Amino acid sequence: MKDFMFGAMRQILRGLAPRKILLLKRVEKTYLGSKACRESRCFQGLRNNTNMTTVIEFKNVVKSFEGKSVIDGMSFSVNQGETFCVIGGSGTGKSVTLKLLLGLLPVDAGEVYFKEQLINDLDELKLNRIRQSFGMVFQGSALFDSMTVFENVAYPLYELNKYNDEEIERIVREKLAVVDLVDTEDLYPADLSGGMRKRIGVARALATDPQVILYDEPTAGLDPANVNRIDHLILNLQKRFAVTSILVTHNMESVYRVADRVALLHNKKIGYVGTLKDFQNTANVLVRQFVDGELGAE
Ligand SMILES: Nc1ncnc2c1ncn2[C@@H]1O[C@H](COP(=O)(O)OP(=O)(O)O)[C@@H](O)[C@H]1O
Ligand SMILES: [Mg+2]
Repeated sequence: MKDFMFGAMRQILRGLAPRKILLLKRVEKTYLGSKACRESRCFQGLRNNTNMTTVIEFKNVVKSFEGKSVIDGMSFSVNQGETFCVIGGSGTGKSVTLKLLLGLLPVDAGEVYFKEQLINDLDELKLNRIRQSFGMVFQGSALFDSMTVFENVAYPLYELNKYNDEEIERIVREKLAVVDLVDTEDLYPADLSGGMRKRIGVARALATDPQVILYDEPTAGLDPANVNRIDHLILNLQKRFAVTSILVTHNMESVYRVADRVALLHNKKIGYVGTLKDFQNTANVLVRQFVDGELGAE
């Protein structure tokens, strides 16, 4: 109902003074990040829909490095539009899982699908086409220190080689507005706070309008206020652009705020997967041990 009201209000306010529209946008932004929004019918519809399309699927994936087994028989699937949280101890293979999905690392055995297309056998050219559907927020932001904010966000666009300078400028401004960092184009990463750097990392991941966003520990090292801000950004992107997200995180507060489903990586495979509600209520020993901090690094 509230979602409908905001839509209707926006229609009515069309044609009014820009300042009033700005005010409405602020109200809407606050609402989008609020508990009321998450509990709205629109959101519940997404959460309760059991007929969702599978976007990503891992089937019995195996990966080792120089004889050291890291992933052995990993299977899971991610639904269209959901935020799928992956948790697990340090060194359990969370980042490796994201890299396998992007084809940045080859699998030893098993299958990785994106929209029913088997991607682990594709050549680099075809993989690059698939990668355009993904935005990656790397662990530790991974911004280029010698480049300005503008150049960092524009980087994936230059790589695509299909936009002119004007278009790139427009897209960069648009993405910086999404992460609430307008007018930072000429700054360098060193000029920004940790939280701002993470948000620039998100803006860069958004540059190519991805269908899927992969976040690798996007709140690591941030204070609670900035963690909260990134979490709300993740929620807003899901709500505004209907993106599918995989979030790797250590932060249980983030899991409770943004997850639709939660997967626990343990013993080289998915040890548990369930909805957020199930995760919060389950008696599963692995989950309870992890939440209580009794499952250490592998
Ligand atoms: N490129 C690589 N070469 C060799 N070992 C790697 C490589 N990438 C990851 N590993 C190893 O795989 C394991 C899982 O790593 P990672 O996925 O980064 O863990 P995390 O769950 O903390 O993200 C670790 O033991 C790590 O040392
Ligand atoms: Mg990692």
